[in-house]
Amino acid sequence: MTGFSPEWLALREPIDLAARNEAVEIAFFAALGSDRLRFLDLASGAGSTVSALSRSKGRSVGSSVEWLLTDYDPALLDVAGQRWQDSVTMRQIDLARDLEQLPFAEVDAVTTSAFLDLVSEPFLVRLVDQVVRAKKPFLASLTYDGRAVFAPQLSFDAAVLDAHNTHQLSDKGFGPALGPAAAGRAIELFQDRGYKVVEGRSDWQADHASADFQSELLAGWQNVGRQVGLNEAELAQWWSLRQEQISSGDLILTVGHIDFTAFP
Ligand SMILES: C[S@@+](CC[C@H](N)C(=O)[O-])C[C@H]1O[C@@H](n2cnc3c(N)ncnc32)[C@H](O)[C@@H]1O
Repeated sequence: MTGFSPEWLALREPIDLAARNEAVEIAFFAALGSDRLRFLDLASGAGSTVSALSRSKGRSVGSSVEWLLTDYDPALLDVAGQRWQDSVTMRQIDLARDLEQLPFAEVDAVTTSAFLDLVSEPFLVRLVDQVVRAKKPFLASLTYDGRAVFAPQLSFDAAVLDAHNTHQLSDKGFGPALGPAAAGRAIELFQDRGYKVVEGRSDWQADHASADFQSELLAGWQNVGRQVGLNEAELAQWWSLRQEQISSGDLILTVGHIDFTAFP
């Protein structure tokens, strides 16, 4: 599976849906007046935000949402289009280059999920400025915040998490990424511009019921550990123990995320 393959996004989606912060979504919908809403979703992937907000407790019964989904990966947009045929329009776009071409002024709100940790400070400023200039509410779900707790713990967890968090800062096409600092920085930028913010945790909780997800996630972390030159023998031992625990259903993994909504 590649970084954003449909298979990986599908494995993540149930964990993402369970993790989303209900109070943040309620505050987001409370900032919206109308019952016929148009949302612009940034870096939509296979449409996970559509899935989440269709079932959100914040949404008033009978309200309808028309979505403009954006991503640079046409295969992911195709999946989203098949899932949500009637209510979505798709636009393939490189957000790093063409963010300002999107119709921020013509929608009721801007949403994104699992995206802000990929972007750089200059891109984040561009994004916040577009949202604030258009005076729109914003919802950013599932931004990774650098925390991870393994149960049971191993002494090598800290080294692997460090490697992962360092890798999070590498360039994902937007310049050096903010990684775990992204949600906090985005919140500051909105508050500096006079926006109100409601934030809360949306940590992934993965146990024996999500063995495939655990396995894929930690295989990725193990690869990063190898790339950054962690001690090979210690890394191999760590990975072998973790694989055993995943197979026997004995691993519980918590990975820290932040949700926030910002509104004028
Ligand atoms: C972790 S996925 C999140 C997808 C979806 N929002 C979700 O929660 O499942 C990150 C998404 O960002 C998209 N992406 C990354 N860089 C991009 C860029 N420069 N322009 C547009 N989309 C981009 C990827 O294609 C991928 O769909």
